[in-house]
Amino acid sequence: MSHAVAAEELAALGGAKSVTAPRTAWPYLTDEEIDAVRENLVKGRTDWTYLCAAPKGGPGGALEERLARELDVPFVVATAGGGPALHIACMSVLEMGDEAIVTPYSWGQTVSCILQAGGVPIFADIDPETLTLDPKSVEARITPRTKAIVVVHIGGIPADLEGLAAVARKHGVALIEDCAQAQGSLYKGRPVGTFGDFGCFSLGSGKNIAAGECGALVCRTREHFERALLAGMHPARNFAEIQDPERRKWIDSLIYTYRVNAISAGLAVKQMDRLEEMNGWRRANARGLAERLAGVPGIRPQRLPADRDPAWHMITWTFVPEEVPGVTRKQYVKALQAEGVPLGSGYVGTPIHLRPVFQQKRTHYGRGYPWAAHPEGERIVYRAGDCPVAEKRCAELDLTLGGGAWMRDEALLLDQIAAAFRKVTSQIERVKEIQA
Ligand SMILES: Cc1ncc(COP(=O)(O)O)c(C=O)c1O
Repeated sequence: MSHAVAAEELAALGGAKSVTAPRTAWPYLTDEEIDAVRENLVKGRTDWTYLCAAPKGGPGGALEERLARELDVPFVVATAGGGPALHIACMSVLEMGDEAIVTPYSWGQTVSCILQAGGVPIFADIDPETLTLDPKSVEARITPRTKAIVVVHIGGIPADLEGLAAVARKHGVALIEDCAQAQGSLYKGRPVGTFGDFGCFSLGSGKNIAAGECGALVCRTREHFERALLAGMHPARNFAEIQDPERRKWIDSLIYTYRVNAISAGLAVKQMDRLEEMNGWRRANARGLAERLAGVPGIRPQRLPADRDPAWHMITWTFVPEEVPGVTRKQYVKALQAEGVPLGSGYVGTPIHLRPVFQQKRTHYGRGYPWAAHPEGERIVYRAGDCPVAEKRCAELDLTLGGGAWMRDEALLLDQIAAAFRKVTSQIERVKEIQA
């Protein structure tokens, strides 16, 4: 006599959830980090630099020294966030109407920093596996008006930095790295942010270092360093640090309040003691997930070149529809979300070149700027089909596994996620019944 074992009902159709492990609370601050902030505040009673980064020194200076040492770079400017670091970098190399080549596959600020500096974004396509700028696509878009390439290491995956640096060098344009999601990521064993002319980091609360609101700009020449100071730092600091006599004349003339918050800087310095440990968890979780989900139909991990070592700010996998015929990505995601799996249909959503700012070519400047400052600005249009790889990833293929799940030791969560995938994919006919 044989007994057919009834499959467990899918949660989306009324069954019990597979994932019950508690979700990680983030940011995770240790008692030592909280104590360090308190100690700095007490010092702030007698030493202004513990509360304010207007002058040189204090926790802001300590953060700069620490990053300079760990990244082995000559110049660091601590900033109020990753966005300010990107804006400063763009202001340092772009004038109104200059072109900057950028990815459409990112958090919006990778692109808005160009607009904020008066530049005209020109979108290049991404590599289908690393999801970062493809140097060939970038090179094809270089014109005499190109002044910069802005690359993001999305989700912590390092872009092809040698390829991009070679294009930048060949055409004499600046390379700006958006490392907001990539602190601790390595390309050929070397930290990202140290290949371009500028590396822009976020140490804000959602990031690998979570220090409230905080960022840093890394650069390699004194000229870039002084330009960055001039654009974003307080005159008190600039008078102490800017050496070039011509540039000194410009101090306190056009300036953004982009200096770091000293309290956050102190927290960041302390938390950097744990960066390796925290990134170790992220790496172990990414590996653990790939091992547990190997062979599960409908999903596969990114195939990264061996020279990339991401710090896994996020995990994006690829939907493989031919392995689950008749099931849409929406149904697949809905079935797994109902089981409690932190799965989404991608991080980017609408590629940036297809968003209203670019479709309508309208910014806060008004009057058609920055395109109006470009001699052929009217001819620059942003269309579906400009970046087919990025567009297909967003519309059809992206599966994001995340939502704060990878920041701690997550073995139980990983086991439960794997069980959920097995449960769902062993009942593909039932998945087709899900309304999505
Ligand atoms: C890719 C990317 N660039 C820039 C930023 C901006 O950083 P911040 O929020 O520190 O200004 C973020 C923040 O989410 C980001 O993810």
